[in-house]
Amino acid sequence: MRKKPLGSRALRYANWRTARTNLVRRCSSRFEKPPAAWNAPAPLALTKLPVAIYHQPIMRFLSLRRSARWSSFFSFAMIAALSAVAQVAPRPNAQLASKEVNARVDALLKQMTLDEKIGQLVQVSAGFATGPGASNLRYDELAAGGQVGSYLNVTGAEATNHYQHLAVEKTRLHIPILFGQDVIHGHRTTFPVPLALAASFDPSAVETVARFGATEARADGIAWVFSPMVDIARDPRWGRIVESAGEDPYLGSVLARAWVKGYQQGVLSKPDSAAVSVKHFAAYGAVIAGRDYNAVDMSEITLRQVYLEPYRAAVEAGAATLMSSFNSINGVPASANPFTLTQILRHEWGFDGFVVSDWGAVSELRNHAIGVDGAGAARKALEAGVDMDMEGGLFGSELAAQVRSGKIPESVVDEAVRRILRVKFALGLFDHPYTPLSPVYDATPERRAAARKVAEETFVLLKNDPVAGVGPLLPLTANGKKVALIGPLADSQTEMLGAWAVTGDPRFAVTLKTALSARLGDRLLYARGCGLFSGEDAGALEQASFTDQPVAGSAATNHDDQKTIAEAVDTARKADVVVLALGESASWMEGEAASRAYLGFTGAQQQLLEAVVATGKPVILVVLAGRPLELKWAAAHVPAILEAWSPGIEAGPALARVLFGDVNPSGKLPSSLPRAVGQEPLYYAEQPVGRPARGDLSHPPRDAAERFMSRYMDEQNSALFPFGWGLSYTRFSYAPPTISQAYVSLRDVLASHQPVATVGVDVKNSGSVAGTEVVQLYIFNTGVSVAQPVRELKGFARVALAPGETRHVEFPLGFDELSFYNLEIKRTVEPTRYKIWVGGSSLATAETSLTVTP
Ligand code: BGC
Repeated sequence: MRKKPLGSRALRYANWRTARTNLVRRCSSRFEKPPAAWNAPAPLALTKLPVAIYHQPIMRFLSLRRSARWSSFFSFAMIAALSAVAQVAPRPNAQLASKEVNARVDALLKQMTLDEKIGQLVQVSAGFATGPGASNLRYDELAAGGQVGSYLNVTGAEATNHYQHLAVEKTRLHIPILFGQDVIHGHRTTFPVPLALAASFDPSAVETVARFGATEARADGIAWVFSPMVDIARDPRWGRIVESAGEDPYLGSVLARAWVKGYQQGVLSKPDSAAVSVKHFAAYGAVIAGRDYNAVDMSEITLRQVYLEPYRAAVEAGAATLMSSFNSINGVPASANPFTLTQILRHEWGFDGFVVSDWGAVSELRNHAIGVDGAGAARKALEAGVDMDMEGGLFGSELAAQVRSGKIPESVVDEAVRRILRVKFALGLFDHPYTPLSPVYDATPERRAAARKVAEETFVLLKNDPVAGVGPLLPLTANGKKVALIGPLADSQTEMLGAWAVTGDPRFAVTLKTALSARLGDRLLYARGCGLFSGEDAGALEQASFTDQPVAGSAATNHDDQKTIAEAVDTARKADVVVLALGESASWMEGEAASRAYLGFTGAQQQLLEAVVATGKPVILVVLAGRPLELKWAAAHVPAILEAWSPGIEAGPALARVLFGDVNPSGKLPSSLPRAVGQEPLYYAEQPVGRPARGDLSHPPRDAAERFMSRYMDEQNSALFPFGWGLSYTRFSYAPPTISQAYVSLRDVLASHQPVATVGVDVKNSGSVAGTEVVQLYIFNTGVSVAQPVRELKGFARVALAPGETRHVEFPLGFDELSFYNLEIKRTVEPTRYKIWVGGSSLATAETSLTVTP
């Protein structure tokens, strides 16, 4: 096999992959199906549940030998030896498992009254509301009375110190409050939304965002961030897709690790590390029909193989806390689900941190028709494995009496308290409870540079067709040309921040209009064109009062679309080229409680688009949206389309640099873009079927052969732009991939902790400008006991290439990449043949294969 030296990025990537593979291998025994006894909801009184896991097989092993004469000596020796193994067995978060932390926790717990313990399990929003029915309580009294373990939505050193002084100085045991908040894509410095970050396929970019977020949150007294959201999202009707890494479990897992690493930096006690809350556990992204808060129903294999993978990755990376979700899973609410919260999370994954419920999810158990009142909801949630009740009020009001009456063993409460205190000790809150006052936040050049660099990696060039007599429109060459910038998203600072930019300040955002006018001066023409909503919708939003964001006069509303569209058409006619900035309202139509039944541009934007295209001027469409929109008309009529998501405070400068070619676009779609909403949920990793669709599906079936296959009568099956898709201003070509071993034995795959084969490929920049390609590796496991998806991503690397340069990229394959869950819910490999493709998207055609022999 031809080998070329790895470039520094490829090298870092290779090292990272090897380390990761080793880690996963070490943990692979946890993939085994647990003994049948574990299937029953486990009592939570055990203080070291995971140790019990190691002991169970030991006890079975010992019982077989009980009759032997030397059994007692043997038993003793084995217990001693294997207990030692159990003690040193790797834990996902060494700090939370450490003797020091646990000794301090136990010493404190011994001194606590029942009421003091229950106080630790209560979380209350003492600032702005991020959910319905926020409590309006006497927050000072709660803090001073030890009745809360955590406040959310209190921001700033002064405000957090205020409550912290009350908790630390007025309560008997001086237990500090843990302040938590949604830090989703940056804290004060707003970076691109998470879906955009996923489009970078760059874990180091995600790590940067998390590090800035943690540092800025800590400066505001917040040691606990409600991030990352690692829900797999395959249905863009669900507004929360914007918070996700999109549709793919492999990409989602790689980025989940990066988020945890960036926030926690390996050591929670660093002054600028923040504990994560991985959310929303579990499978919230699979809500039926993309309707928020809806139920989830799926097989255990899909749950584990697709939806749980990124959570597992985050836990293995040391995540300190998780958030239990609103949805039910196969009829059992996720916030009262012993299977996910205890069996999988604690028993199988060895999680030592704590679980907080999502906002009100414990009290909402009463709506799930599982036969509980308030007391029952609190009991079920706690016993299932929820340790802290966010804004539900029930842990505070309903647990104590049930413990006193013997209905709930106090040991269950103790275990929850222990988990919470572990995190507080590990964060160093007992030693440093207060936050130094820091200067007022400013978007310094250093922060801006980081935000811009990350944003530049997230844009996806969907299309850049040559225009007759002009060539491709992008990159723009200004050369005295007049550019018309048109659209409701061309000059809205608020919208550039994107959904869930909780403490982001729109005043720091630079719009596309500002950035382009700095470059073009009076050669830039501008027209808003229309609002994001029109007619009755606009009126209704102006009346809405569920946030305090001003709507009237913002990008959202417009009162006379016909007039403004006509003005925009005039503006377009005066220019040589038009840049249209269209999309949807990030602040109104994306994120939580923002499901959509249609996926087109909102308001009169489609009308604006068609009117501008009708002028005959060359049009570049910049799509600003936190979900895949339906772009079918645009793809057929607009020569150049850039998917720009919600880019954050440096939206304008980052976009301008990519549009003008200072930076070559390198983003790839983390989520398939549909032709029609009726295709959703649409994802590339679909299951094989008995009647696969073949041939040309662009017209209705003309005979039985064309009809009786898995297809639509009125639309093609394929995505308009598929997962992994993204063009560049240069061209990349792939040599046929090679594989180090075409045949490997099953025994080697199952036994080895190392990759069993390596796929290598030469990638060349065959164009005339430098560019970065995201090289992607896909597999298809062609025949095992449980059918596997027709393609699955199992490796990727960002490779920067000078014009004419070729790099050799390698992807290791081993148990982790090749395994799947069989019918016994055991992660395994079976004799089979894998087809393997390497290329620049999920349509990659350069192929090789690997056979696993019996
Ligand atoms: C959301 C969570 C968020 C929490 C706290 C809930 O409504 O689902 O994602 O972390 O509120 O703000």
